[in-house]
Amino acid sequence: MQFLEIEGGKALHGRIGISGAKNAVLKLMAACLLTAGECVIRNVPRIRDVRTMVEILRGLGAKVEWEESGEMRITSGEELTFEAPDKSARQMRASIQVLGPLLARLRRARIAHPGGCAIGARPVDLHLMGLRKMGAVLVEEYGYISGWCRELTGQDIYLDYPSVGATENLMMAAALAKGTTVIYNGAREPEIIEVQNFLNCMGAKIRGAGTDIIRITGVDELHGADYTVVPDRIEAGTFMVAAAITGGELILAPVIMDHLQLVVAKLREAGVVVEAEGESVYVKGSHRLAALTLRSAPYPGFPTDMQPQFTAMLTKADGISLVSESVYTNRFHHVDELVRMGADIAVDGRLAIIRGPRRLTGAQVQAGDLRAGAAVVLAALAADGITQIGGVEHIDRGYERLEEKLRLAGALVARRESVTVEEPVLV
Ligand code: UD1
Repeated sequence: MQFLEIEGGKALHGRIGISGAKNAVLKLMAACLLTAGECVIRNVPRIRDVRTMVEILRGLGAKVEWEESGEMRITSGEELTFEAPDKSARQMRASIQVLGPLLARLRRARIAHPGGCAIGARPVDLHLMGLRKMGAVLVEEYGYISGWCRELTGQDIYLDYPSVGATENLMMAAALAKGTTVIYNGAREPEIIEVQNFLNCMGAKIRGAGTDIIRITGVDELHGADYTVVPDRIEAGTFMVAAAITGGELILAPVIMDHLQLVVAKLREAGVVVEAEGESVYVKGSHRLAALTLRSAPYPGFPTDMQPQFTAMLTKADGISLVSESVYTNRFHHVDELVRMGADIAVDGRLAIIRGPRRLTGAQVQAGDLRAGAAVVLAALAADGITQIGGVEHIDRGYERLEEKLRLAGALVARRESVTVEEPVLV
């Protein structure tokens, strides 16, 4: 078992490069199932979730080559099958994104039901509702979702909630459906625009991504494409908080500031300096951060994927901060770990009440999920003494070369092997 060991209390300084966006790349990879042509995706981050999606695509019969440079080539030729490999599909909820493309291309699909998840109930009812409306027969039994259709037809689809994954799955299915599909109350995340742009490069006819009404006119066939994915806004936001919480100064690039409007507004409200110049962003922390009130919400609201990192930062802010989580039912796993490090946080349902500033001290903690892991890493960077963080595999799902990037900015971080299976051993 691996764990991260961080000796905190060092202000971070320097430049950090931002990798390609995980949540966009995974969907573009699934979209490659829609064509027999070769697709090239550039700027693909070397993270565990991408490796899992590679295994899923290969298990489905696609050919995937992934260069050290981050260039990925995917060809989903004649060998394509409709049964997603179980083990990899169960490892990651984003595996559900192959359902729409498989139904559109092969008219059949079978995938392990993604089930629940550490951050709360995560049903896929909206994905299934939309695909059923387009003509698919979908059966959920024995832990699988199986589907088939004679053809998919364009429909007006109303989403009760602007689900990111459902919007993307339906866009991909509708790209090869007969007629026009209109998705109402679709998600507006930047990743949806990435899916639209990629599909349009493949010959699809989609407009409206970035708004809550997306129109997709189906075409008979899609072809290969060559596409460079945008930088990861959540990775950039996480390093912004790293500068803020350690009172350091970082230059991050490339960053698309438009994707981080509310994150930057909240950092500035807390007293952090954030200045953009072209694709670079300069972030300077403050030794006196102000308390904040924030609520996660679908884009352009405050991203739920930045909530844990801000919760960590606000333990150092002066006064009482209120953080409410509206997207997931159970996304405060990081709180117990932060309390173990000296934070004063009370959770009442979906609200966290954070009293600061508190002196954080190193402890043995766990990364319960990907962003909870990021939150404890950030707290560890600001804590006095040594923190050991177990559950590193969660952090590896979404952060490329995290220790290396932090070390370049002056952090004392090491990845170590634990001799026990259960918990890292204190040395
Ligand atoms: C994506 C992101 C994830 C981010 C989330 C919200 C990827 C791989 N993951 O996840 O990092 O936290 O967007 O920004 O892109 N819901 C339903 N029924 C459905 C689908 C969703 O009720 O059919 C609910 C979920 O339970 C959840 C909320 O909608 O409470 C948000 O989920 P959704 O927007 O679908 O997130 P994901 O696409 O799974």
